Amino acid sequence: MHEFTFIDLFAGIGGFHEAGTQMGGRCVFACEIDKHARIAYKHNYRMEPYGDITAIDENCVPDHDILFAGFPCQPFSIIGNRKGFEDTRGTLFFEIERILRAKRPSMFILENVKQLKTHDNGHTFRVIIRSLECLGYDVYPAVLNALNYGLPQKRERTVIVGFSEKTPHFKFPEPIECGKLEDILEDDRLVDRKHFVSKAIREKRSERHTSDIFPSIWHENVGGNVTSHPFSCALRAGASHNYLLVNGKRRLTPREMLRLQGFPDTFEIVCSDAQTRKQAGNAVPVNMIREVLRAGLSAFLSRAG
Ligand SMILES: C[S@@+](CC[C@H](N)C(=O)[O-])C[C@H]1O[C@@H](n2cnc3c(N)ncnc32)[C@H](O)[C@@H]1O
Repeated sequence: MHEFTFIDLFAGIGGFHEAGTQMGGRCVFACEIDKHARIAYKHNYRMEPYGDITAIDENCVPDHDILFAGFPCQPFSIIGNRKGFEDTRGTLFFEIERILRAKRPSMFILENVKQLKTHDNGHTFRVIIRSLECLGYDVYPAVLNALNYGLPQKRERTVIVGFSEKTPHFKFPEPIECGKLEDILEDDRLVDRKHFVSKAIREKRSERHTSDIFPSIWHENVGGNVTSHPFSCALRAGASHNYLLVNGKRRLTPREMLRLQGFPDTFEIVCSDAQTRKQAGNAVPVNMIREVLRAGLSAFLSRAG
C-alpha cells in the first residue's frame, strides 16, 4: 500500500476511484457532467464531483500525485460515428492536457476504447501521444483486456500511462486470470422477473443458437449472429436491451453489471436500472486499472529508490 492523492476526471461512477482507494490513494477532486452518475458517485464516495470540465479553472484543481481520466469514448468507438476530434466530445482530451500542464502530477492513467489507436488511420492517437510527450511525460500505451485481470468480461481498452520523469522499469501487468461467471451471476430464483425476456425472444434466440456452456452469456452481434461464452462480451452504455442474455434467458441485473466491472457489492445502487446500466457500460474495469496502477506505483518507487 502506498499513500498518494489522485483526481478523477470524467469520473462516471468511479471505476478509477475504486481502484485508487484500493491501492491506498485518496481522491482530492472529481468531475463528471452527468447528473445521475454524480448522484451515485456522491452517495458511494461521500464527495460531490464538479460538473463540466470545460468550466473548471485548472488552477483551482488541488495538487495531486496521480491524474486519472477515462475520457468520453463515443466519438472513437466502433459504435460511434468515427468523427473523433471533429466531435466536441473527442476534443475533451485537450481538457486533460490543460490540467496536466498546470498541475504536473507525477503519474497519469488515461483510458479509452480500443479503437482510439486506429481511429483516422492512427492520426488521433499520434496527436494524443505527441501532446502528452510534449508536456515532458514518459508515455506508455497499450491495449488491455479486462478478461486478463480477473473479470469475466471481454473488454479491450486503450490504456495510456505517463510519468513526469523517465520511468524505464514500467511494464504493463502480466495477464493474471479470467474471473468466473459463477462469481458474478445472481441466483435465477432470486432475480426479479422483469429481467427475464419474453418467451418469443427466448425462442427466437434458441432457434439460432444452442449452447453447451453453462453458465454462459449469449451475445447477439449487430448482424444478428448469436454466440455464447463463459464470460460476457463488453458492456455498452447505449446498447440494445437484449444483446447480452444470461443463459439465453434473461438480461444481466444492475448488480451483475457492476460486478462485471469489478465494483464490490458495497457499492450501493441508488439510480434506476436504466441509469445503472448506462453507468456500468461507461465504467472502467476496476481490477484492470488496479493492476496497472500497482505496476505504475512499483515502477515509480523503484525509480525514486
Ligand atoms: C467513459 S465515461 C468514464 C467512466 C468512468 N471512468 C467510470 O469508471 O465510471 C466518460 C464520462 O465523461 C462524462 N463527461 C462527458 N463530457 C463531460 C464534461 N464536459 N465534463 C465532465 N464529464 C464529462 C460522461 O458523462 C461520462 O460519464
